[in-house]
Amino acid sequence: MNIENWDCFYQNEVDSTNTWALNWAENASSGQKALFLADAQTLGRGRRGRSWISLSGNLFFSLCFETEPADISAFTFISSLSLAEAVLEYPESQNIGVALKWPNDVLLNGAKVSGILIEKGAKNFLIVGIGVNIIEAPQASNILYPVISLEKAGIKTDKLFFLKKFLAHWNKNITLLKANGITDILQKWLKLAYKLGENISISQRENVESGKFIGLDDKGALLLQKDDGVVEKKLVGDVFFDKD
Ligand code: BTN
Repeated sequence: MNIENWDCFYQNEVDSTNTWALNWAENASSGQKALFLADAQTLGRGRRGRSWISLSGNLFFSLCFETEPADISAFTFISSLSLAEAVLEYPESQNIGVALKWPNDVLLNGAKVSGILIEKGAKNFLIVGIGVNIIEAPQASNILYPVISLEKAGIKTDKLFFLKKFLAHWNKNITLLKANGITDILQKWLKLAYKLGENISISQRENVESGKFIGLDDKGALLLQKDDGVVEKKLVGDVFFDKD
């Protein structure tokens, strides 16, 4: 199967499409790229060692391709931006608040609809694993944020149809990255940023810091302005928002 110039491998059920792609990369040759798609995952993985509950009906896939190590953070922003742009193509999205939460969550009305896990594979291969709640919004016991699905937000769609829309935006954004570097991508991302200019909290391990989210630096680090005016750059962390 070929979708939007990607060679696609499909299985009914796998442990994790990221693990599948990581294994494939071990024996892949330079110049190859592939998309791994499954209807269900038994061991779906999330960021920071969390699990990703993968119910049949939702979308789970991983892109595997070669890249320079310096480009890795760009794919965080390209992935979430392309997902949001795919959602915005549905007319129903006009009644939904579609926003991006740093570094890479897509929010619908403030609730998380998708997750992205980027992992380094063998040689120069990178794996971008994406889960989109098409129908169900799984409630995990260790849940950090409210969750939602496209369907629950009012968008009924076929998951392959959504995947094609996403890949078309991905290809367009990769062309933009190659032409102008990450700057244009970050500008587009910021236009959809959730709570830009507002107070947020960011947790890194045990440490939680609060301040105003004033933007991104030229590499995509979050700029947090503290009460004393000092601006700190945050490279990793989970962002939380003060109650609306
Ligand atoms: C997150 O914690 O928000 C990231 C979740 C990423 C889930 C996707 S589903 C497809 C791919 N395979 C995995 O095991 N994880 C990613």
